Amino acid sequence: MKVLVIGSGAREHALINALLDDDEVECVICAPGNAGIAGVVETHQVAVSDPVAIGELAAKLAVDLVVIGPEVPLVAGAADAVRGRGIACFGPSAAAAQLEGSKAFAKQVMAEASVPTALAHVCTTIAEVGAAIDQFGAPFVVKDDGLAAGKGVVVTNDRAEAIAHAQFCLARAADAQVVIEEYLDGPEVSLFGITDGTTIVPLQPAQDFKRVRDDDEGPNTGGMGAYSPLPWAPEHLVSDVTERVLQPMVDAMRHRGTPFVGLLYAGLALTARGTRVIEFNARFGDPETQVVLARLASPLGRLLLAAATGRLADLPPLVWRQESAVTVVIAAHNYPETPRTGDLISGIEAANEVPGVNVLHAGTAVNPQGQLVSAGGRVLSVTAIGDQLAQARERAYGAIALITLAGSHFRTDIAEIASASK
Ligand code: AMP
Ligand code: GLY
Repeated sequence: MKVLVIGSGAREHALINALLDDDEVECVICAPGNAGIAGVVETHQVAVSDPVAIGELAAKLAVDLVVIGPEVPLVAGAADAVRGRGIACFGPSAAAAQLEGSKAFAKQVMAEASVPTALAHVCTTIAEVGAAIDQFGAPFVVKDDGLAAGKGVVVTNDRAEAIAHAQFCLARAADAQVVIEEYLDGPEVSLFGITDGTTIVPLQPAQDFKRVRDDDEGPNTGGMGAYSPLPWAPEHLVSDVTERVLQPMVDAMRHRGTPFVGLLYAGLALTARGTRVIEFNARFGDPETQVVLARLASPLGRLLLAAATGRLADLPPLVWRQESAVTVVIAAHNYPETPRTGDLISGIEAANEVPGVNVLHAGTAVNPQGQLVSAGGRVLSVTAIGDQLAQARERAYGAIALITLAGSHFRTDIAEIASASK
């Protein structure tokens, strides 16, 4: 099979590596990719926000399967455009991707499916916002209804900051909405399910580190690191969440006439009162995918094609490696604000020599002088496997010490607590 992967992050680099490991995958092509991806597969330019261009490229390349990484093309209808050309696509339609595209819509489907989540009010005026945050009390949770690249959520004890974020979100468009939620306390888990619209196959859970600095300080980011497995997680977490969250959502979307085909990402809080959904995403998470795929032993191409063609129930159960995986993101100077780009990157070859390490590229490019430079906020995702989390962590940080990128920063506490617990 010939596969086209859409996107340019470390998630796509991880997907491509895993696809290349499947002996039923003859060829992988990526658009637009990054410097690291261009080192392993053929790449093409494409505007990821342009569904028609994505459909045209898939047809021109005569691929058998398109795998769409980011949310922007999905919400814009790229999967519909690809299917419209008779090509199998791993990724939900624009209608189904609204589970990520609108937090208010996701809340509505969760209510229909009796899926446990935070109480919430959808507000369109500051007066409504004020009333809602006073009802729930601090800490205040204020969410942009629409896509915001992982930065639309503010959790704060400062009422003025909460109101200011709501004002900012409401000013984005005339019909803007903001979601005010009750605060959910407890560890967070990301659990992904691969679905063909009827059957859902859960992957292994991971934990993401969303705040920019150690000890969960600073603003939210797209994700600064992740690890899997979760030695502290309840034994039946995956089966419970599959039964009570993932399957009911898949069924509700199908019954609405907008089946969800692709990856359903449940962001969960394990609260004292039980597991609650924080959010759904309509795609693989980044950086969780880097650690989840590092542990997946089953062939990925066959899995994604089966989901895209309604044949998931025919597949054998997934097989997982015993190893643990840790990924640490190296971010550019000033990320998550406007990142500085164009800084030289060195040391990746040496880092890749560390046993178990795979340096995945995100925001990287080659400059006119032929040098590897930063080209985005999250630049590299240094991923390592090890017998235990402690070894994977040691390897990832050992590799990072060999990489140079001026002004860059990374968290030093990825998987620290979890690796000490086992
Ligand atoms: P989201 O984009 O909805 O995943 O939110 C980003 C991050 O904000 C989450 O990973 C949580 O850390 C935090 N967050 C979102 N909603 C809540 C909530 N209701 N209670 C506590 N933290 C939240
Ligand atoms: N790591 C969070 C996300 O992919 O949305």
